Amino acid sequence: MRKLYVIGIGAGDPEQVTMQAIRTMNLVDVFFFLSKGDAKDDLLRIRKEICDRYIEQGTYKAIEVTDPERDPSITPYSARVEAWHLERALIYEGLIERELGEEDCGGILVWGDPSLYDSTLRVIDQVLKRGNVHFDYEVIPGITSVQALAARHKIVLNGIGESVCVTTGRQLAATGLPDNTENVVVMLDGNNSYKNLADPDLHIYWGAYLGTENEILLSGKLGELAETIEATRAEARKRNGWIMDIYLLRKSDL
Ligand SMILES: C[S@@+](CC[C@H](N)C(=O)[O-])C[C@H]1O[C@@H](n2cnc3c(N)ncnc32)[C@H](O)[C@@H]1O
Repeated sequence: MRKLYVIGIGAGDPEQVTMQAIRTMNLVDVFFFLSKGDAKDDLLRIRKEICDRYIEQGTYKAIEVTDPERDPSITPYSARVEAWHLERALIYEGLIERELGEEDCGGILVWGDPSLYDSTLRVIDQVLKRGNVHFDYEVIPGITSVQALAARHKIVLNGIGESVCVTTGRQLAATGLPDNTENVVVMLDGNNSYKNLADPDLHIYWGAYLGTENEILLSGKLGELAETIEATRAEARKRNGWIMDIYLLRKSDL
């Protein structure tokens, strides 16, 4: 039976690809890459470099398909994302049908880990539910950007016995800091949502392009650092054409 591997490749540092991911990548006959066709294709380049670096026999095929755009006219946001997932499901369904022979293995390389703010597993479930193509699939975990952030700042995410909440910039902007936790990791924040938080004594640990040659780290009191982060972020984004950043907010410096 056809087999699909969804492989977490870590958040940018090729040295953080696991042994299990490397062994699995070496089983794959065809890799499917969705590309954005813009500056963010640095992420595609890094995926390809990981294949070149770790796959011993260069006999695999790599198929690149343009990733559909989310349609901003669809509201609410959840419906927009659902429509986008369906478009991706149709793309993967076609690729699996056309490109994978009955005994072949396909591979999708997922940034970080597939369990964290990534749609691949939902989309693959959707393909299976549609019932037009049949295959087994397996998930190989990767190092997340949350772990990369903690390692680079040399911090534990939680104080002793405390909880940690992982959320998005969109949520932080909409509802503010969650009440029930002292430690909040914020991802997918294109709008500097930390700027609107009232408490200047919050501590922020910020990281951009973690694990890559462009990595930037900043940490300190939010009240003293917010403007620096905003300016650094804007300048780096302009220089590189894209940015991925993540931060931990907590009520006290540990
Ligand atoms: C679509 S999510 C993917 C998360 C990924 N699955 C993971 O396990 O980290 C993209 C967000 O992850 C964070 N991110 C991923 N890689 C990063 C990196 N190398 N440096 C900083 N943030 C990163 C950013 O918050 C970015 O907006």
